[in-house]
Amino acid sequence: MNVRQQLTERFQAAFAAAGVPDAAPLVQPAGKPEFGDYQVNGVMAAAKRAGSKPRDLAQQIIAAVDAQDLVEKLEIAGPGFINVTLANSVLIESVAPDAALITPASHSETVVVDYSAPNLAKEMHVGHLRSTIIGDAIARILEALGHRVIRQNHVGDWGTQFGMLLTYLAETSDRSDELADIEEFYRSAKARFDADAQFADRARQAVVALQSGDPAALAQWQKFIRISLSHCQAIYDRLGTTLTMADVMAESAYNDALPGIISDLAEKGLLSESEGAQCVFLDEYQAKDGSPMGVIVQKSDGGYLYSTTDLAAVRHRTITLNADRVIYLTDARQSQHFAQIFLISRRAGFSREAAVLEHQPFGNMLGKDGRPFKSREGGLIKLNELLDEAVAKALKLITEKDPELQASQRESLARMVGIGAVKYADLSKNRTSNYIFDWDQMLSFEGNTAPYLQYAYTRIRSIFRRANTTAAELEGVITIQTPPERALCLSLSRFQEVLEQVAGDVYPHHLCSYLYDLASVFMRFYEACPILSEADDVKTSRLLLADRTAITLKKGLELLGIETPERM
Ligand code: ARG
Repeated sequence: MNVRQQLTERFQAAFAAAGVPDAAPLVQPAGKPEFGDYQVNGVMAAAKRAGSKPRDLAQQIIAAVDAQDLVEKLEIAGPGFINVTLANSVLIESVAPDAALITPASHSETVVVDYSAPNLAKEMHVGHLRSTIIGDAIARILEALGHRVIRQNHVGDWGTQFGMLLTYLAETSDRSDELADIEEFYRSAKARFDADAQFADRARQAVVALQSGDPAALAQWQKFIRISLSHCQAIYDRLGTTLTMADVMAESAYNDALPGIISDLAEKGLLSESEGAQCVFLDEYQAKDGSPMGVIVQKSDGGYLYSTTDLAAVRHRTITLNADRVIYLTDARQSQHFAQIFLISRRAGFSREAAVLEHQPFGNMLGKDGRPFKSREGGLIKLNELLDEAVAKALKLITEKDPELQASQRESLARMVGIGAVKYADLSKNRTSNYIFDWDQMLSFEGNTAPYLQYAYTRIRSIFRRANTTAAELEGVITIQTPPERALCLSLSRFQEVLEQVAGDVYPHHLCSYLYDLASVFMRFYEACPILSEADDVKTSRLLLADRTAITLKKGLELLGIETPERM
């Protein structure tokens, strides 16, 4: 249990002892150092309900709390906050070399993370970047905390547009490179479809052939999907995400389950017919005239929809895979879709009672002008081109900074910095807001950026190179002699708590802010506290703190999917 949770438990008991058992103490990191290390909120609300004076109640709680082993000082502040200053021994113990960096959760959950999920008819574009990056960080963090993570890449590989693509593929299959550029291929196929009615007819027949399982159509379709997926995988590898082909669970994988979804809905009395289509009406969602709104699950021609597939996916995940929790990462435009799917799943019994279904939406990437992020020609920017540009810009910066560097080193650094900068820029913003994609900001070596953190890490490593030692060789203990050392210990001790927070609320920017704060606290420590010139015991203590900072930064970045160079 992290210190914050321990404090919460202790104060919960103290609230009860002070006569307010139903009130919940909210323990939060203090906003300023002069407020101590943590602040306990909740006294004022409890006092209001109990009809007592907040400061009196706070006094009673302080008298009742059993926390001598954790706490050095408790103070009442303002109208009734309790400021907590931890004992130095607690801080030292939690950052000692033998203290685990991450402690697995006492209760390990099975968590499905649904992320990335591009549509295979087209090439991955910037619209898929956020889901891929955020989802991958969440999957890594949950895994680090001991949960069993099942990645599900719910790629779109089914639907009418494949009829058009396959028909066009058949026409052009004499060219061996026709699928080298899926985007271009899609555009040409679409142009052909719009211009030629006979082609459009053949495309529609191809859809029918595909859906009825015609072997030739299926073989063509598989070829297309295989190539498109390999384009995606190349991007995943380049981005350094953990997704593999084994995580692909495409829309088409649910095809056989769809008739059963419809008959189950009918059996539960949830299905109604409306204009020939099969719908589920939900009182919670109303059309403009106040009548309940229908979610179509089968079209009048018998075809199934995105929604039908998602119902089958909920059942697969919570019942077959036995997930305790399913996290969906898509942009906010799909919020209503998921809210409806979750509701229908509950009613129809497609989701296990205890399973938690969460849609965690995100905002859009905007250009510097505040409008949707587009290429100069106005089209969507391809991910590969975006990453090329990131690496090229990083290479230029690195070359300016250190022209002596060997070419091979320069290239590997440029890759880590460029890709890292793009990922971090996304992860460090509150996910639910739109964010402005700004090359200068994300590639800056100052501020809350990947290059700043990567550089901070290499600076610590260079201290060890100058000391001509490694942490493993150090014999001694950490001591706290000055405020900057204490501040660093406190920041280091909070790593676990921050990871748990992100695992809970799926906001990776908390981890970014934490790492940025840690690096800043370290820089203040480093400016105020000499290391190599000190006597052995002080030097060892400070080196141990430096090492702990380095491994925390490295681990934190790794959990965000960002590499750290050893020097730069
Ligand atoms: N393919 C969809 C899209 O590009 C995202 C799929 C998200 N996951 C899901 N289970 N619906 O919008």
